[in-house]
Amino acid sequence: MTDQEYYTFIQPYEDAKEVLLARLHVLEHNLYEASESQPIHNIQSRIKEKNSLEDKLRKKKKEPTVMNAKDYLQDIAGVRVICYFADDIYNLVDVLKRQADLIVVRECDYIKKPKPNGYRSYHVIVGIPVYCLDGMEYFPVEIQFRTMSMDFWASMEHRILYKKQEGTGRKRLAEELKDYANTLVEIEERLFHAMQPSEAT
Ligand code: GTP
Ligand code: MG
Repeated sequence: MTDQEYYTFIQPYEDAKEVLLARLHVLEHNLYEASESQPIHNIQSRIKEKNSLEDKLRKKKKEPTVMNAKDYLQDIAGVRVICYFADDIYNLVDVLKRQADLIVVRECDYIKKPKPNGYRSYHVIVGIPVYCLDGMEYFPVEIQFRTMSMDFWASMEHRILYKKQEGTGRKRLAEELKDYANTLVEIEERLFHAMQPSEAT
């Protein structure tokens, strides 16, 4: 695909991402007003760059064209919501899914069922309605909900294991990371309990 094709193609994905970000900020304000709880630590977002879009299509054995990107990729627009606790994530997912004009395309709870390597996160692909001159179309945005500790682990795992070849201590590192994943769950749970109001005696 040419640069021009790429930029024209991603525009509605950029718009969908901005709409979702605005909705998340509104939810955040409402949740804060309702209970003074502060569920979100920070939000990051990105649009897949031309190179990685083409690479991913090639990996899927598809020609790197904008038509194929539209048909086969659902993470062209991505939003990462970093929360404090897992409870905050379930709460947010719940209220977001109640928005009637938003569709849930795919959902994967890697918190209840972590990946074998220890990766935890709640993935939802939502369809966001984008209105243009000749009507409305849903565009997918991949949301990754993580707690700070899940994000810390995933970032470290990506940094440490990505591109690391087999046989260079990779197996040992992977085991170590898995161990840390369990420790982080424990720390998070302990902090969650420490935060609860102590029971009256
Ligand atoms: P992709 O082809 O990677 O998009 O896989 P998928 O479509 O099966 O989706 P999945 O939910 O497995 O992963 C989507 C995204 O989640 C990835 O692009 C990463 O950003 C993140 N992710 C998934 N698994 C891991 C992992 O083991 N480690 C890290 N660091 N990130 C992960
Ligand atoms: Mg994906």
